[in-house]
Amino acid sequence: MNIAQNPNSELSHFAVNTPQVFEIPETFRETARQFQEAMMQYSCAIREFKTKLEVLNDELSMRNARNPIEMIKARVKKPKSIVEKLQRRGLPLSIESMESNLDDIAGVRVICSFVDDIYEISRMLERQDDVTIIAIKDYIKAPKENGYRSYHMIVEVPVFFSSSKKNIRVEVQIRTIAMDFWASLDHQLKYKKQLDAQEAAEIGAELKKCADVIAETDCKMLSIRQKIEEKHPTQEE
Ligand code: GTP
Ligand code: MG
Repeated sequence: MNIAQNPNSELSHFAVNTPQVFEIPETFRETARQFQEAMMQYSCAIREFKTKLEVLNDELSMRNARNPIEMIKARVKKPKSIVEKLQRRGLPLSIESMESNLDDIAGVRVICSFVDDIYEISRMLERQDDVTIIAIKDYIKAPKENGYRSYHMIVEVPVFFSSSKKNIRVEVQIRTIAMDFWASLDHQLKYKKQLDAQEAAEIGAELKKCADVIAETDCKMLSIRQKIEEKHPTQEE
């Protein structure tokens, strides 16, 4: 006799009820499948967009004998962060709401060598006729009050699937190695820390100073490169 058939067993109640406890409603199963599909589509959009960047990097590095892009980082936002962001903004928790309201589910970070590389890459992306520019925030020309600098673009790229084409949004952050260094440490220092007002003001002021020093260094590095290029122009092959 197994546990479920033996009414005297302490575990009989649990055993009999187990299948019901773990039964997943069909609607939930379908929503989970749709969510998984949406995440797959975002990761395909990232792949398409990364290829565009790699093509530009290859072409520009042939022309200028150096790589304008140092590194490309990409990520699909985690389900937990998606839910938290929708809740924070008081938006419905649904796949439609996620797709129409959140622009940063697919995120690509482009780390460039010099500040002028950022503008060259962004201009080239803007000129591509299958890239639709939804929004641009230039936090280099107008840094955030805390010193944050980067060039942000929200773009839409078409991705072709077996039976349909879908325009998918990607958040692109383009920054120099120096800007990335500052933003990564800024994020690390502040992440999930409960600082009181005075601490936050003091640390904020210190970080702002570092951001300004870093921006000045970026500027100097660019002028050093330009001086070298003036004296030793790249030979066309
Ligand atoms: P989010 O709700 O965070 O997406 O902000 P937003 O919609 O106002 O967009 P914004 O373009 O200002 O920022 C988007 C992203 O840029 C953030 O998710 C971060 O990755 C980055 N970012 C913006 N401000 C800062 C900052 O002060 N420090 C750091 N480390 N990253 C920042
Ligand atoms: Mg974000």
